Amino acid sequence: MIVSYALKGKVGVITVDSAPVNALSHAVRSGIANALTTAATDHSMAVVIICAGRTFIAGADITEFGKPPQEPSLNQILEQLDNHPKLTLAAIHGTALGGGFETALSCNYRIALKSAKVGLPEVKLGLLPGAGGTQRVPRLAGLGPSINLMTTGNPIAASQAAEWSLVDRVVDGDLLTEAVAYAEQLVAEQAPQKQARNGQLILSDADRDAISQQRELMRKKTRGETAPQRILDCIEAAELDFDKGLDRERELFIACMQDPQSTAMRHMFFAERAAAKVDNLPKDTSLLNVARVGIIGAGTMGGGIAMCFAQAGIAVTLLDMSDDAVNAGIEKITKNYAISVKRGRLSEAQVGGIMANITPTSSYNDLADMDLVIEAVFENLAIKQDVFKTLDGICKPGAILASNTSYQSIDEIASVTSRPESVLGMHFFSPANVMKLLEVVRGAQSSDTIIATAMAVAKTIGKVPVLSGMCYGFIGNRMLRPYAREASLCLMEGATPAQIDGAMERWGMAMGPLAVGDLAGLDIGYKAREQLTDEQKGEPATYIVADRLVEAGRLGQKSGAGYYRYDPDTRQRVDDPQVMTIVESACQELGISRRVISDDEIVDRLILALANEGAKILEEGIAQRASDIDVVYCFGYGFPRFKGGPMHTIEAMGLERAVARINEFQSTLNPGNWQLATILAELAASGDSLVGYHRD
Ligand code: 3HC
Repeated sequence: MIVSYALKGKVGVITVDSAPVNALSHAVRSGIANALTTAATDHSMAVVIICAGRTFIAGADITEFGKPPQEPSLNQILEQLDNHPKLTLAAIHGTALGGGFETALSCNYRIALKSAKVGLPEVKLGLLPGAGGTQRVPRLAGLGPSINLMTTGNPIAASQAAEWSLVDRVVDGDLLTEAVAYAEQLVAEQAPQKQARNGQLILSDADRDAISQQRELMRKKTRGETAPQRILDCIEAAELDFDKGLDRERELFIACMQDPQSTAMRHMFFAERAAAKVDNLPKDTSLLNVARVGIIGAGTMGGGIAMCFAQAGIAVTLLDMSDDAVNAGIEKITKNYAISVKRGRLSEAQVGGIMANITPTSSYNDLADMDLVIEAVFENLAIKQDVFKTLDGICKPGAILASNTSYQSIDEIASVTSRPESVLGMHFFSPANVMKLLEVVRGAQSSDTIIATAMAVAKTIGKVPVLSGMCYGFIGNRMLRPYAREASLCLMEGATPAQIDGAMERWGMAMGPLAVGDLAGLDIGYKAREQLTDEQKGEPATYIVADRLVEAGRLGQKSGAGYYRYDPDTRQRVDDPQVMTIVESACQELGISRRVISDDEIVDRLILALANEGAKILEEGIAQRASDIDVVYCFGYGFPRFKGGPMHTIEAMGLERAVARINEFQSTLNPGNWQLATILAELAASGDSLVGYHRD
């Protein structure tokens, strides 16, 4: 029974039992509405709403969004609660989120387990709390907590919620017993049927200033997103009469629901969860226990990876060639944590605990007992193969041997070992302790067990895993090449660095492509090109400017100049006429005449180049599903979540339009660069979905 109702003495208990997270589906809403109707006229003196399973109601059922509404609506249930003749009490465990927390806020009282959390995460879906949350929270908790809860979307602990008057009692022990006892006590004391709607919010001038400041902050922190500003509009409306405030909330909630940003962010919610799943994995695939992890290379990448595991409480052995090298790595990690302590993110004691999980070594023999070893050495096949030969001779049978390579063939790395079934790629993104994406790369012989284990380990260390097949650059970096190519070509054909980066950033990218190049270091690509033949390097127009910049000592941010000059104190980028001199002379050298390029052309060329390559990756079976590609870009490459990743973007644009534009580029630009992906042509013709595409 999804919702059941039973009397426990004089207390009516409504139990919601709808796995996995008790979301407010139509069945749950109907069940609660019926139970409330029964409780209104039976012998109960009070009503408790409690949930079975791992959590209290985690919100509206997101899978129902966009479908025709079915009564009773959540707001009808909350109205029923507002007018209920019996005292109502929500009993919270797990996470009471969104519409779930709003249901609790409409009860007269709230009791929560100490371990519980409450929150209003709607902003993460491009929405705002649409069931009275924006009006009830300010009346109960005041302005500051309301802004915090609703604009970050982050849940808070029950104890914090109690401090903010959002929860009345925090308990340990059996929640049902505690809730029934509390209800009985309230009835015995003839406690009033408190209602958040009767509270009042009065905004002082200082409060209004605080809202304006928050607006500015959100414009920077959540650039381009509409929901945070609408949330602040709703909070301001909490000063009005409650019903007028609710009307404003409804109006803005509908605006959010109809906003393509929310469609994109809801797509990302499900995409992130789908990405963790491996297609066609036999049900009986066992997982290996990963309790000890070895990391080879104590540089920036290896150190960052070590931090991820150590923070998750997993013992790490960090290896480098010499004691000096490994100690330098440990020092860097220590410095990183000192910054976290200074910023109040971690305590000294927590850092002490984390550092105790990391053991430095310069001896491979110390890796003999590791369950998983991740190699993070220089990006060179021969060096990596040497490392894997050594590991093969030392590591215990069954140990997972992973390479953090960005480009090299996992199969060629595995081929030097006697156990290719134990070898795979685990590609972290820099800085590894911050970036959420982890590409898990399956080699031709990688076993199901190690793939499933790597996907699970990723979640344990707080990463978002995406499975990739083998190709040069895997999913993310392979797609980056045509994107970067078009950026370079736009620069040669007529744009400036500031125009290209500005257009992409205004569109929503966290950072434009040339500024990213400066951040990463232009010398990296330069050195890589030195190993390539002219044919492998491709069109000179795609790299001539980068080469000239490096040759002029402009390596990017680290040398104070690249595509821009950088202020030594603020690191702010500044346009530099010298760069345009380099660009113009490169154009003369290659016989390219410059023209006016519009921002729209820049955005279309870069995004369509990215998505067209993504479609090829999909049709080759390198990515399992289109949404995985979106996860890669949003979690690893600064693609805005509110655009939903490159594949969602072209679906939203209309595949027919996208294909027409790619074909136009094919006829007006270098045709070799604009070979349309077959599935794009097919799906545009059939009208089927790209995001829903599944390769047979
Ligand atoms: N609706 C529908 N399905 C949901 C859901 C929801 N609100 N929340 C979670 N699910 C599904 C997930 O898609 C997943 O499905 P799958 O197993 O098929 O992939 C399953 O439940 C389990 O979810 P997680 O893998 O995320 O489980 P965790 O234990 O890691 O996390 C959670 C649980 C913290 C509840 C997390 O799922 C979560 O944050 N959910 C979203 C909560 C949310 O955003 N609520 C607000 C909804 S909007 C709203 O309420 C509007 C209102 O104001 C009117």
